[in-house]
Amino acid sequence: MIEIIRANKNHIKDIQDVSDVAWPHTFKEVLSPGQIRYMMDWMYSNESLQEQMDVKDHHYFLAKENDKFLGYMSIQHNCENTGKTKIHKIYILPDMQKRGIGKQLLNTAINEARKQSNTAIYLNVNKYNESAIGFYKKSGFFLVKEEVIDIGNGFVMDDYVFEKEIVYE
Ligand SMILES: CC(C)(COP(=O)(O)OP(=O)(O)OC[C@H]1O[C@@H](n2cnc3c(N)ncnc32)[C@H](O)[C@@H]1OP(=O)(O)O)[C@@H](O)C(=O)NCCC(=O)NCCS
Repeated sequence: MIEIIRANKNHIKDIQDVSDVAWPHTFKEVLSPGQIRYMMDWMYSNESLQEQMDVKDHHYFLAKENDKFLGYMSIQHNCENTGKTKIHKIYILPDMQKRGIGKQLLNTAINEARKQSNTAIYLNVNKYNESAIGFYKKSGFFLVKEEVIDIGNGFVMDDYVFEKEIVYE
């Protein structure tokens, strides 16, 4: 059975082990090897992950089956004072995709956002990441805007912003 657990700093290596496989696989046809290395150093170094957890209020979750970690997600409530929860990251190991794990993580994000009375979930997705875009559309997200973000070193993120309203009974 796949369970979703809340991650902490003791799980940094587990998050890195999944991202080392899932991240390059996701972007191998979209980003240059140099940009993949640059972005992974920026987002997944020990220091960066610690800062995200301790200072930036990013909450990490891991999908776990038996003793193996299969995916992770990070979220931030009231991101940029919008009253909305942002999914910063959601990645599943390539051979574990399309088994419902993304849906379980997304439902976790929605439940956590509800606890904070946030009004929506939103995220950035690379414009050429067609598979993830298909997943978001299937999951009830709609396109809000396009965004080109300069991330330094001559690299940009060429993104769509997608959003899904949180429904309260
Ligand atoms: C995108 C991702 C998180 C989705 O997770 P997943 O575990 O593969 O998706 P699930 O199996 O939970 O799918 C949930 C639903 O979406 C549908 N779906 C998944 N991918 C889809 C696609 N590309 N197009 C249309 N529907 C899709 C599934 O059929 C399923 O539908 P159902 O609820 O009717 O059964 C995962 O594939 C992944 O990690 N991809 C690589 C990393 C990535 O791109 N992350 C996003 C960065 S912004």
